[in-house]
Amino acid sequence: MTVSSAPGKVYLFGEHAVVYGEPAVPCAVERRATVTVSARDDDHVRVRAEDLSLNGFTVEYRGSTGDRPDVDVPAPLVEAAMGYIDAAVDQARAAADAPDAGFDITVESDIPLGAGLGSSAAVVVAGIDAATRELGVELEPRELAERAYQAEHEVQDGQASRADTFCSAMGGAVRVEGDDCRTIDAPPLPFVIGFDGGAGDTGALVSGVRALREEYDFAADTVSTVGDIVRRGEELLAEADPDADDPPEELLSELGRFMDFNHGLLEALGVSSRSLDSMVWAAREAGAYGAKLTGAGGGGCIVSLDPTPETQTALRFTPGCEDAFRAELATEGVRVEVPPDADADAEGEGERERDSDDGNGTETGADSS
Ligand code: PMV
Repeated sequence: MTVSSAPGKVYLFGEHAVVYGEPAVPCAVERRATVTVSARDDDHVRVRAEDLSLNGFTVEYRGSTGDRPDVDVPAPLVEAAMGYIDAAVDQARAAADAPDAGFDITVESDIPLGAGLGSSAAVVVAGIDAATRELGVELEPRELAERAYQAEHEVQDGQASRADTFCSAMGGAVRVEGDDCRTIDAPPLPFVIGFDGGAGDTGALVSGVRALREEYDFAADTVSTVGDIVRRGEELLAEADPDADDPPEELLSELGRFMDFNHGLLEALGVSSRSLDSMVWAAREAGAYGAKLTGAGGGGCIVSLDPTPETQTALRFTPGCEDAFRAELATEGVRVEVPPDADADAEGEGERERDSDDGNGTETGADSS
């Protein structure tokens, strides 16, 4: 048995625009998905997911998820969750060169699903890490991030950027611009998150922005203005002292302003919602330095900056807000919680160092299922 966990994230700046090559700055937060994987003697995959929905679910299948079993939860939720898990299994099989490996998988997550906090990326990153370790292969975080990206890319029909998966694998604050992914320094920002209890449809929202951008110059300009805001925000982070326990008010206030601008532009691109807007305004009125939606939008979460308890309290009383919580910057990305046990190691092929090719699992993954 091997257990790995990986953090969710908030976008300080840059979601949607990152899909068109602008930079984005996601920050990992201390809400984690934990995946437990045990190798099986056959090629079956059995998945138990807790906390992903109110009910959780268990499914067992052979080979790929094509033969979907009957389960007592809404089909779209199973489709979505199983799609990511199936893609993670394919990547792990390809990385370990073990196309017939079977697994018992348990997924637990305290990251709301599809709500802009990178739940799927965290499940995929932790799942690939645990499954490859279980097969005796230890991937470097960057290769893991690449494989997790390939998995998300496949499930999301090519509409994923590298931002979520890279951030979840590496932890801390990161900067993603196209294929260029790097970690950056950031002080411990006082994130307060508001969650409306819902979720957005990332694929549909990304397609909506794409269509708008193709039809209207203003939308293309808006996307590049988001890029300008991200670059300004990055400069602020670069000048800040990453070791300061309490980031100075001036920094928070400037970052907050840019978050507000970023939210306004996302709203212009049509990806906000009534509940996201009312949480954003509640946070601002409570004295937050800034607030914006995080992730694809349409519903889900907002992120605000406030070191005081005021924003969290105000959000709790805001109609449309189901939960409000503080989220620390997660300095650690993926981590192994329980390493593979000694017997499994002895039975397996032993630990092999991976050569770091570009991790193009789409090709190898196709062979494996
Ligand atoms: O809602 P999330 O956490 O899946 O974030 C989506 C972010 C987008 O920029 C809209 C898409 C992407 O893959 O970067």
